[in-house]
Formats: sequence, C-alpha cells, structure tokens
Amino acid sequence: VHSVIVAIDGPSGTGKSSTSKAVAAKLGLSYLDTGAQYRAITWWMITNGIDVDDAAAVADAAGKPVIVSGTDPSHPTITVDGLDASGPIRTQEVTSKVSAVSAVPEVRTRITGLQRSIAAAAPHGIVVEGRDIGTTVLPDADLKIFLTASPEARAARRAGELKGADVSATREALIKRDAADSTRKTSPLAKADDAVEVDTTELTLQQVIECVVTLVEEKR
Ligand code: C5P
Repeated sequence: VHSVIVAIDGPSGTGKSSTSKAVAAKLGLSYLDTGAQYRAITWWMITNGIDVDDAAAVADAAGKPVIVSGTDPSHPTITVDGLDASGPIRTQEVTSKVSAVSAVPEVRTRITGLQRSIAAAAPHGIVVEGRDIGTTVLPDADLKIFLTASPEARAARRAGELKGADVSATREALIKRDAADSTRKTSPLAKADDAVEVDTTELTLQQVIECVVTLVEEKR
C-alpha cells in the first residue's frame, strides 16, 4: 500500500477533529491538527505581550516560537518552545484571537511550511485537518474532504464540547470566526474544486467516519 495524503477542511463544529483522528487511527495514518498550530502561535503572541490586532508586530514575531506537533492520532500533542500547549490553546481568549493571527500572511507562510514538512515525513501517509489544506497547503492530496453542517448543528456540538456553554452565544462566536476565516485575503476557508463535500448535519460521528474511511480506501 502506498502512502496516502488526506486533506479534511471545513468550518468549526463540523466534526473535523473527531473524524480526522478516528480515520487516521483506523487506517494507520499520521494525523495533523493545523488549527492547533494556529492556536499555538496565537498563545505565544498573547503570552509574549504582542497585540494580536497589530499585524506588523505579529508578522515580525511569526518566526520566533518553536512549534512541534506530535502526529499520533490517539495521542496528538503540541509544544511551543518546549512547553506543552494542548491545554492553553483551547481557552476562550485564544479562540477569540486566533482568526486575527492566522490572517497574517507571514504567520501562514511559516505554519504552512511546517505542515508540508510534517506531511512529507509521514511514513504511511497522513490525515491533515484545517481550513486551507486542500486549496493551499497540500493541493496534490490524494483525497480532499470538505465537511459542512448547519450553523445550529455546529453550535450545538461546540456547546456540548464546552459543557454547559450557552448555545446561542456559541453560535454567534462560531459564525463570527467562520466569517473572518472565510473572508481573509490569504488562503481563506474554502472548498477545493476537487473536494468531496460531506454534509454532516443529519449524520452521526460514526457515519461520517465510515464515509471518509470508504473514500480513503477507494484511493489506496
Ligand atoms: O480548527 P480550529 O477551530 O482549532 O482552528 C482555529 C483557527 O485556526 C481557525 O478559526 C482559523 O482562524 C485558523 N486556521 C487556519 N487555517 C487552518 C486551520 C486553522 O487559518 N488550516
């Protein structure tokens, strides 16, 4: 079996992470959460006192943090300058600031470079999840999936993960972040022309996983 590169893109709350991890684990592939990398660089900017709305300052600092992603789907890790960042990157502060940081072209160039070298080094292939993987990072991926779901379904899933979070507030925050991610100039959230779109609104996680596994197996 030759190695297979799978790109999974889509907005938040579509089940991208759960699906990508499960598919990678099932098929013995590596896994990369590119959102975690943008969150990690955002966390570094915050802890180093850089104003995330100052694009020039963010651009200047983009090369400084050392970000290392572990690619085992059953135990994904991320460190920044050697520190475990998996907890801090999930705070509301990071979530609310990540779109501003990820819109800065110097940040994208830096992180995209990391992503391409990780994908190239994966021994049996990799599942890479994000917003611009099929369009920009890995345009030659063997399979591109674009996950969608209604805003209601996405907000309900996110609020469920955040335990006790208010669904309508979660929905507003999510719509705002997707709008920022979809309208930025540099590699916005978009479906690649050759991506398979899967609407997950009415599907269980198991059904989405099975659907993607079948699509990958057709490519191997
Ligand atoms: O997937 P997650 O919600 O963790 O992504 C966090 C943020 O990282 C997104 O809202 C987006 O601003 C940015 N991102 C990106 N390109 C990617 C993955 C994530 O710009 N490939």
